[in-house]
Amino acid sequence: MAPKPRIIATRKLPEAVETRLAAEFDAVLNTDDHAFTERELIAAMQEADGLLPTVVDRISDKVLDAGGKRRAQIVANFAVGVNNIDLDAAKARGVVVTNTPGVLTDATADVALTLMLNVTRRTWESERMLREGTWPGFNPTLLLGTGLQGKVLGIIGMGRIGKAVARRAQAGFGMKVIYYNRSAVTDTGVPAEARDSIEAVMAEADVISLHLPGGGANAGAISAERIALMKPSAYLINTARGDVIDEPALIKALTENRIAGAGLDVFAAEPSVPADLIALDNVSLLPHIGSATVETRTAMGMLAIDNLAAHFGAGDYPARVV
Ligand code: DGY
Repeated sequence: MAPKPRIIATRKLPEAVETRLAAEFDAVLNTDDHAFTERELIAAMQEADGLLPTVVDRISDKVLDAGGKRRAQIVANFAVGVNNIDLDAAKARGVVVTNTPGVLTDATADVALTLMLNVTRRTWESERMLREGTWPGFNPTLLLGTGLQGKVLGIIGMGRIGKAVARRAQAGFGMKVIYYNRSAVTDTGVPAEARDSIEAVMAEADVISLHLPGGGANAGAISAERIALMKPSAYLINTARGDVIDEPALIKALTENRIAGAGLDVFAAEPSVPADLIALDNVSLLPHIGSATVETRTAMGMLAIDNLAAHFGAGDYPARVV
């Protein structure tokens, strides 16, 4: 019998995922859950047939080269986003890249709505007041937020997650949905009006939710100029990737109260978050937890294994090749 392909997982994975990976492959698990260095990534590319990395592993051309001793044929990313991988370099070297679309749509949309409610209803400021013991008691004008009912939600990037956010916002809050998407969207799922530019959405929406892939042409897409188009009463929500926003420009706009607030689950240089952003009251900040449910992370892991199995000929379905 041919030896099982060796797969190196760069982080600890949900138990059911590790159990299956170990059953189906010669799996090398990250038992102490440390973050891989570049050197370890290179060694993994040399020693394994496939790599199962996460969004924090930068799979650069240097890693993909692996000092000319690369054995790995596939990088099965534990994520839908692949901006941690140099896709051109992978293609040039014949390394297959797969991702985990679909299974994290609902969890991520839930977090977008969480951020919307947090920032518009000022939950962070409210909870801090209570925990610090400075709550003066009920007061008709204390901590007044903004209701979402009847407001305009602007979605930038009307893919799976954008549509799931639209569905929730419309069903739950009766929001009117407008959107911008690079290509035409045939089925938005709920009534939604297309706009022909990011600028149009930025200027019209009361709440803007970003669902663009990170990296490449989208880096800095939400620029200072585009932020300047937002209404002073508008909020910006980001559950996509930190680099799609010009972060210093956003911090400036928030500091000067030129926009009402922001809800962010992702940051340009994770895990570091700018101190001047953390210091602001008009933001709700979460540590990249969009897909962080047991169910979702397990489904992501299973899909990554499906992709590996399909690649190595053990699955009767196609790998989700990027
Ligand atoms: C993704 O899948 O791209 C998320 O950001 C991590 O779950």
